[in-house]
Amino acid sequence: MAVLADGIQEGEVPETETLIDIADFMRIFVEKCHHEKEDNHLFPLLAWKGVPIAECPIGPLTHEHKAAGKLTVDLDAAVEAYQKGSREKGEFLVKTLHGFVELYPGHIWKENYLLFPMTDKILDELKQRELVKNFGVVERKIGTDAHQRFEQLAERLEARERNKEKEK
Ligand SMILES: [Fe+2]
Repeated sequence: MAVLADGIQEGEVPETETLIDIADFMRIFVEKCHHEKEDNHLFPLLAWKGVPIAECPIGPLTHEHKAAGKLTVDLDAAVEAYQKGSREKGEFLVKTLHGFVELYPGHIWKENYLLFPMTDKILDELKQRELVKNFGVVERKIGTDAHQRFEQLAERLEARERNKEKEK
């Protein structure tokens, strides 16, 4: 997204397919998979175990999920508007992409170094198994091939970037 935003700012016109792929990834994988697993299953379970939900890390993580949800809606709108083509719409797209770039590294850091180690300490094996079962329900809703499709998308995006580098 950072590379894409820089390119647009420098006057490059990204392929429509790339924009649609990224908007799909954010809507399906991030919103319907990542956020749903945490907001609807993990966080309520931790709250039930007595973890204060307004404090760090759950408070800021929930806030960031909401911010990312808004950015995802903006991204769909920005991609659609950009395809219809005005310079002003390009600025909206760049602003939205930058929003994700600013939000996610810190979000993932808090999850990897605070949320997951804490969860591992608080939930016993039985509760963790229950959580995995519930995550399975979320996975089936987005489609069991979703992860494979998004791995292929990552490979396609990498290949597109490599080809662009070669053309330079
Ligand atoms: Fe999250």
